[in-house]
Amino acid sequence: MAKSSPVKCIGILTAGGDCPGLNPAIRAVTKTAQSVFGMRVIGIQDGFRGLVENRTVQIEDQMVSGILTRGGTILGTSRDRPHKMTMGGKTLNMIPAAVENARRLQIDCLVCLGGGGTQKNALRLARDGGIRVVTLPKTIDNDIVETDISFGHDTAVGIATEAIDRLHTTATSHHRIIVCETMGNKSGWLALRSGLAGGADVILIPEIPYDLGIVASALMERRRTGKKFSIIAVAEGANPGSDDAEEPSAAGAVENGFEDSVDTAPVISRRIGNGLVQYHEVQEPIASRIARELQELTGTDARVTTLGHVQRGGIPSAFDRILCTQLGTRAVELIAEGRFNVMVAYRSGECVPVPLEDVAGPVNMVPVDHPLVESARKVGTCFGD
Ligand code: F6P
Repeated sequence: MAKSSPVKCIGILTAGGDCPGLNPAIRAVTKTAQSVFGMRVIGIQDGFRGLVENRTVQIEDQMVSGILTRGGTILGTSRDRPHKMTMGGKTLNMIPAAVENARRLQIDCLVCLGGGGTQKNALRLARDGGIRVVTLPKTIDNDIVETDISFGHDTAVGIATEAIDRLHTTATSHHRIIVCETMGNKSGWLALRSGLAGGADVILIPEIPYDLGIVASALMERRRTGKKFSIIAVAEGANPGSDDAEEPSAAGAVENGFEDSVDTAPVISRRIGNGLVQYHEVQEPIASRIARELQELTGTDARVTTLGHVQRGGIPSAFDRILCTQLGTRAVELIAEGRFNVMVAYRSGECVPVPLEDVAGPVNMVPVDHPLVESARKVGTCFGD
């Protein structure tokens, strides 16, 4: 017998970068909604764009059977934002269309699985469109505030750690410096955790400005004591300090049409044919620049591995499967209790609602005195400072 609930139909969407854990969360939301509360569940395809374009699928139980162990998202995702959506070459505020479709579909509450940008977009739908929302914290970067961890992060740490383990064997064989670039454009949690777990000798993150001269000295000291190889874990957003940073031009810091990704590379204008085009100058990946400069500073052969989207692929870890099941089931309970416009946060093993206003905007950065940083320093890890 289904428990009572003022909500009869929920919509669910996945937005932003994909990651392992999305499907277990979709499964938990769907099973709880249908079997415990008798709710209908409508899947919205490709993030907020699917809501604007009315691309949906009725989620039945057999659709979520077997997806606990599947990476990615069965609904598809996008980085599109409802208030600044590119439609036919124009950037338009499509919140009214989203609201109209939610009304027509009789969606009483929209569950949004996503990262920092998704939290902001969900809050906009609630504030400007009156859509009731509940969100879950998803990102391999773990840069969402008010929660101990975001789902996807644990799986990505495992992938990056295994990569660093593998890089150790080749670095020791060839006596090389190997720079391993992880994702993490705003915060360094992924580089910090995988670097610590993988025993990286140097960890460079956005929160701690680094001086390559200090890094080079640390590597040469290692060599002097007989360690002829070194592994460097660097977040893609690592901060080269003020003197050797290639400051992006002010004009380069333009927001493109996707959630959160602000491309800060200098803008190039080119006349092609009869038209003038603008694009961001392709930047040398930070790991390549670090490897090149360290090779010059230390005289040691250096190589680069950029893990990129490998960190977002594959099956979810056991921890992420359990976390997503807890977050998803709790989200539906909160909806049945009439608790809306909150993110379901994971705190000390509990799933608790946090007002979206407190989540949308701030970034969960690594505190420079965090216990993980202190532990890494105590085992001799260099942070370039
Ligand atoms: O979702 C976060 C993230 O993985 C960042 O770590 C990374 O910089 C970005 O997404 C990559 O975005 P895209 O998948 O759009 O290339």
